[in-house]
Formats: sequence, C-alpha cells, structure tokens
Amino acid sequence: MPGIVVIGAQWGDEGKGRIVDYLASRADMVVRYQGGNNAGHTVEVNDIRFKLHLIPSGILHPGKICVIGNGMVIDPIALVDEIMYLEGYGIDVKSRLKISDRAHLIMPYHKLLDEVIEEHKGELQLGTTRRGIGPAYVDKAERIGIRVCDLLEPKYFEEKVEQNLRMKNEIIQKVYGKKGFEKGPIIESYLKAAEQIKDMVCDTTSIIYEFSKNDKKILYEGAQGTLLDVDLGTYPYVTSSHPIAGGVCIGAGIGPTLIDSVVGVVKAYTTRVGKGPFPTELLDKTGDIIREKGYEYGTTTGRPRRCGWLDIVMLRYAVKVNGLSYIAITKLDTLGGLEKVKICIGYKYKGKTITDFPASLNVLSECEPIYEELPGWEEGISDIKRVEELPENLIKYIYKIEELTGVKVAFISIGPKREQGFEIVKLF
Ligand code: GDP
Ligand code: IMO
Ligand code: MG
Repeated sequence: MPGIVVIGAQWGDEGKGRIVDYLASRADMVVRYQGGNNAGHTVEVNDIRFKLHLIPSGILHPGKICVIGNGMVIDPIALVDEIMYLEGYGIDVKSRLKISDRAHLIMPYHKLLDEVIEEHKGELQLGTTRRGIGPAYVDKAERIGIRVCDLLEPKYFEEKVEQNLRMKNEIIQKVYGKKGFEKGPIIESYLKAAEQIKDMVCDTTSIIYEFSKNDKKILYEGAQGTLLDVDLGTYPYVTSSHPIAGGVCIGAGIGPTLIDSVVGVVKAYTTRVGKGPFPTELLDKTGDIIREKGYEYGTTTGRPRRCGWLDIVMLRYAVKVNGLSYIAITKLDTLGGLEKVKICIGYKYKGKTITDFPASLNVLSECEPIYEELPGWEEGISDIKRVEELPENLIKYIYKIEELTGVKVAFISIGPKREQGFEIVKLF
C-alpha cells in the first residue's frame, strides 16, 4: 500500500505541483488534504501552464482518481470555475474527482472577513491570499462551520447560513463598519454550485482506505509549506491549516500506518510571499535577478515573491517535523549564471551561533545568517538530458545539501516541464 506524501519544506511555492505531476504518472490516486484555493500549483504540460488551486495536480494525467480531502476548505464557486477551466482543455474531471462530504465550506463572509481583518491589523497584517481561508478554519474550530454534506441538504443549509449570518453580520457591521450579507444570493449561488458538484461528493475516507488496502499507489499532495504550518511554522505569519506530513492523517482521514515515505520539495533557494521574518532574504540585485529568472510571482495572487539564499537551519527543521525520507530539489536552473551561490548553515544571534530554528519571531528577526559559499554553475541547463551531464558545481551543491540535511535527494528539477528533471531514487 504505497502512500507517498509530498510536502513543501519551505514557505510554499517550492514546486510541489511539478513534482506531484511527475510522480502521478505512476500513481493511482492523488489526494489534497489541507488548505484551499490559497494554493497555486503550476504544472507545465506541452507548453500549457496549468494553474491548480483546489484540484489535485494528478488531474492532468488521464484516469487518475483525485480527492479533495476532509481537511480542506472549499469555496464551491471557485471549485466549479476550476472544473470548467480544466474541462475547457478537454480534461475529464467529473468522473475522477471525489470531494469529501466532511470538508468545510468557505462562505462569502469568510472572504470579506479575511480582507477586513487584514486591513484592521495595519502594520501587523499577514499578507494573506484573502481567499477566506483563516476565517473558514476559525469557524470549523468554533464549531459553527458549514460542511459539504450540509450543502447537499438545502433546507438545513439555509438554516445554517441564516444562523451564521445573524452573528457574522453583527461583526461585519458593528466591528468593521461594512455592509452585511443578504441570505438570498448566497443560498442561490451555493445551491447552484451544489448541483454541479453533488455527484462527486462522497465519503472519501472509504475510497482512500480501499485503495490503500488494495495496494494502489497514493500520492498525498501538500499545499503551502512547513513554515506556514499553524503549529510548526513561523506563527503568526502562517496559514490556518497543517501543511506538514502529519496533516495528512487528519486531513485525508487515514492512519499513519498507511504512509510509507515523505518527500520534501525544496526550492534551490528560498522564497516567501506574504509577511514575516526571512533571515536569508536578499534585498539586493541578486534577489532581483533570482526573482526575474525564476519568475517568482505568486500563482494565486500575482504578488512578487521575496527571494533569498537556501536556508539549512530551516531545512533541518523541516526534515525533523516532517520525518522527511527524501528531498526533491527544484529550480536549480534559476541559480545558473551566478558566480557564487550561498547556503545558510547557521544563524548568529546576540553573538552566539544558533543551529536550531527558533520559535520566537523576535529572535528569528534578529538572526544574521552564517553562509558557506560555493562556486556557481552556468546558465541554460534546462535541456540537459543525462544526469551525468549536469555541471559539476551543481552536483557539488546537491551533495552539500545532502550532507547538511542528512537526507538523500531523490529528484532533481532543472525546468518546469515534465522532461526537465532526473529521478535519482525511484519512489514508486
Ligand atoms: P507549488 O505551489 O509548490 O506547486 O509551486 P508554484 O507552482 O507556486 O511555483 C513553482 C513555479 O516554478 C511554477 O511556476 C513551476 O512551473 C516552476 N518550476 C517548478 N520546477 C521548476 C524548475 O526546476 N525550474 C524552473 N525554472 N521552474 C520550475
Ligand atoms: P502553495 O500551495 C505560498 C501564505 C500567504 C500568507 C499566509 C497566510 O502554492 O505553496 P492564507 O491566505 O493562507 O491565510 O495566507 O500564507 N500562503 C502561501 N504562500 N504558497 C502558498 O501555497 C500559500 N498559501 C498561503 O501568502 O503569507
Ligand atoms: Mg504555489
């Protein structure tokens, strides 16, 4: 029952979609287990750049079953749009997509609250994607959330919306001074979306369990990244779910015994979109070069991503909290052409050296990176077809990462396309 988890080891956008797409050709099922359409997974297939937000990247491979797990928060209008977007490319979605009846819904008031809470925070805002993710998870924890199964019972759904609006409108109007919501248009648009998705809604836990027991190959596709985890990330500059490997058990509804290995996707450098401390951030020309060469702009919001050197303190932390079996490294081509590349191997804090990732953001924001410098490699490596032909200095960079993290690199990516990468360890 091979179950492989693919997670982001940094602050998201590591190239998880690209790695899942590669592995999915040999998988039977691909499962998303947390987050919502805050995620933006880009996958390039035959010169088409697909952007996926809610639907697992496996959908681009004919015949694979794709699951939206119970731990996700779903904006049904965005989901219908994404289904139609994929169908526009002739992709059969409806017969292959399974949507958990236990997943929570993102409601219009969640999106508005996401916006007004951010504005209210002023300087302290997180830089969320404003998709309503945080407020939807808040309602789940507060036990007033509305789930997919509720959407399929129109009368009950209407009652729940009514109850919630009574409270939410008070907050929206009295605390934030904005116009509240009317029930009618919400019911109408959500029930219309329900009609479109109802045949895909089911108890996904049974399907995943059955696939596992029948020795089918299952990929669990993480969204966001380890440092955005609400428990283990750079709190409060995090998302409201559990992107780490442990999140799979809860968000897909499986036991840990069904997981065989965990692959951490690592970008060859570090990026972050949104606010919060970032010790290796490059605010100089090198940062701009990496941003432009790597086209580091958000898939979901289009925001420029902050760029910096690879941070091993952070990666060692990701190795621990995810129990990483392997690393898949992406965007090595982007670093090509730099004379030197740097790796942060520790932090200097108040005259002392720190090698463990700190919990306190006050400490983290005062940490100065300690760098090890390595020679760079040439540009234009994306079309290399044999691993032996990769530049020697690039290979040294990979060995250095393996040595510093203690984890084997199983996949090397040198471009966004399916053929632009090397599988060093066969995972399935
Ligand atoms: P995700 O959210 O982790 O799936 O990552 P994103 O899709 O948000 O961002 C990664 C971006 O890098 C996408 O545009 C990918 O097409 C692209 N990408 C992935 N791997 C590589 C690579 O090895 N080289 C280059 N140049 N681009 C890559
Ligand atoms: P993928 O799956 C990068 C960031 C936001 C913000 C913080 C909280 O494409 O890697 P939220 O809207 O989740 O409440 O925002 O998390 N964030 C991401 N950053 N990649 C993502 O997803 C992200 N999803 C959320 O920018 O800092
Ligand atoms: Mg992304």
